[in-house]
Amino acid sequence: MSAVLAERSVRPQGGTTPSIAVVLLGTGVVGGALLKLLNTSAAGSLRLVGVANSRWQQTDSVRLSQRNLREHLNQHGDPRDNASLLAALDASGSAVKVIIDASASAALAAHHPEWLARGYHVVTANKALAGGDLVGWRALQAALAHGAHYGDSATVGAGLPVLSTLRRLRVCGDALLTLEGVFSGSLSWLFNQYDGSRPFSALLREARQLGYTEPDPRSDLSGEDVARKLLIIGRHAGFSISSEEVVVESLVPEALRGIGSEAFLARLEELDAPLAVRHTEAASRGNVLRFLARLNQRGHARVGLVEVAATHPAARLYGTDNQFALSTTRYNTQPLVIQGPGAGPEVTAQALLGDVLALKA
Ligand SMILES: NC(=O)c1ccc[n+]([C@@H]2O[C@H](COP(=O)([O-])OP(=O)(O)OC[C@H]3O[C@@H](n4cnc5c(N)ncnc54)[C@H](OP(=O)(O)O)[C@@H]3O)[C@@H](O)[C@H]2O)c1
Repeated sequence: MSAVLAERSVRPQGGTTPSIAVVLLGTGVVGGALLKLLNTSAAGSLRLVGVANSRWQQTDSVRLSQRNLREHLNQHGDPRDNASLLAALDASGSAVKVIIDASASAALAAHHPEWLARGYHVVTANKALAGGDLVGWRALQAALAHGAHYGDSATVGAGLPVLSTLRRLRVCGDALLTLEGVFSGSLSWLFNQYDGSRPFSALLREARQLGYTEPDPRSDLSGEDVARKLLIIGRHAGFSISSEEVVVESLVPEALRGIGSEAFLARLEELDAPLAVRHTEAASRGNVLRFLARLNQRGHARVGLVEVAATHPAARLYGTDNQFALSTTRYNTQPLVIQGPGAGPEVTAQALLGDVLALKA
């Protein structure tokens, strides 16, 4: 069979009831890639009944089937209103109604428990709820008791099978003992490249140009995104960790934290000296620097720059690879290691689609 997926339209098919109706929130890098996937045969009988960005939304079936949906949204969309998106799901007649959150909005994530409790399935790349404060995590667990599903594969490792593996292990009575790894594609790339031959700021500029970092790279360098992923995995493993309990080492110097984005980008060279010192010290011992997330058996969680031996698994990563090393009661002599590209719009969008299609089964 051809690996090329046939193009199809997400246009409603003659008023038939779709087996899965979806609303997509967020049409940025990931949401845009998902819209492309929805136009392939992989999307099956899934039907898009609403799309929204932060300001505009669309539920008109003809406009939803237009090619430049993202651009049209800004020109012809209606003002944002979650209630009419939910009404579009209800009007679809489908038994499986799904809200896909491809934003990073904490305000939107705060609605996930309410939507689940009302019977809508939620599939998300947004980490703000499960990786936010413990109150939100607990509200999520309570809402899941109502029976709707929460597709969260895209929140960690851009769809690498980390959370699904952890769930399988736990169902079999296994338990996570320790967790260690590189959870950020951008920080992985930066430290895989950083060998002292080029200043860190030059690598950071290149990573930004390649689209590996957020527009403001402090979102990556602060370690907060890695901390959210550590919280999500740790909580899935049964550790009740609050955000405040994760020790986070930011790579952004104090003086560069409160300034505007443009000012920060103009002062990237200020990152160089402190990192060069740490690199030189590590290299003198034959070691390398890696930005690691760690959770130990007592639930102590830390995110930050660590010196590791050249033989350490994290020292042998490539590109934007993520790595998750799970030691469990049954994987205790050698950890179970999951590794691969942990960022990128196509794989993340695929993780979202995979979670949606799993609802059909
Ligand atoms: N990029 C990756 O490789 C990757 C990998 C794994 C996970 N993720 C996660 O995926 C999510 C999206 O990432 P991205 O790179 O696509 O971000 P992005 O390009 O900044 O897109 C975010 C989108 O969310 C929209 N949005 C914000 N608030 C909203 C609201 N209240 N209602 C509806 N839409 C809203 C934005 O609207 P406007 O267009 O109006 O601003 C934008 O379209 C994030 O949580 C990110 O952490 C990304």
